Amino acid sequence: MLDASARPAYVNPMALLPILTAPDPRLKQRATPIGTVTPEVRRLMDDMLDTMYAAPGIGLAAPQVGVLRRVIVLDLSPEAEKRNPLRMADPELVWVSDHDATFEEGCLSVPQHYSDVARPAEIRVRYKDENNREQELAASGLLSTCIQHEMDHLEGILFIDHISALKRNIILRKLLKLKKSGSSAAPVA
Ligand code: NI
Repeated sequence: MLDASARPAYVNPMALLPILTAPDPRLKQRATPIGTVTPEVRRLMDDMLDTMYAAPGIGLAAPQVGVLRRVIVLDLSPEAEKRNPLRMADPELVWVSDHDATFEEGCLSVPQHYSDVARPAEIRVRYKDENNREQELAASGLLSTCIQHEMDHLEGILFIDHISALKRNIILRKLLKLKKSGSSAAPVA
């Protein structure tokens, strides 16, 4: 794999985690806090990043890989040369703007479906980084949307929960049919 071969030899081999797809009860549960970012949590963050880059995606939350803990990872520039990963444990929104922004969203757990979702345009998020240091980040644009999308996963909320029930049920029926047909189609986004 191209990304793996670009890594220095001393780095741990990449660990790809299986990504759950809807409908799955594990995607609908609330995740529990991390508290302290231990080496095991840091390892989870790195495995999640490897999984996200390989998918490829720009964000991933721990429940999507079946781990019901409050961890998310993001990288809006996933090209190997320009990577800028964010690893967040116990993220909390400490401020959101009054005005919304709408982006077309997709999700690795809802493969091949996209919908416009309106969310607060700007946010401030507090979290613990991979070194257990408390951080605060102001985000706008796609980063703001992506952080909120990933944080939703920690509450058991998918982007399709923000659209009409009619549209959501059509998508869920299609995904269920896909699962039953046994063709575990690789997620595209
Ligand atoms: Ni998602």
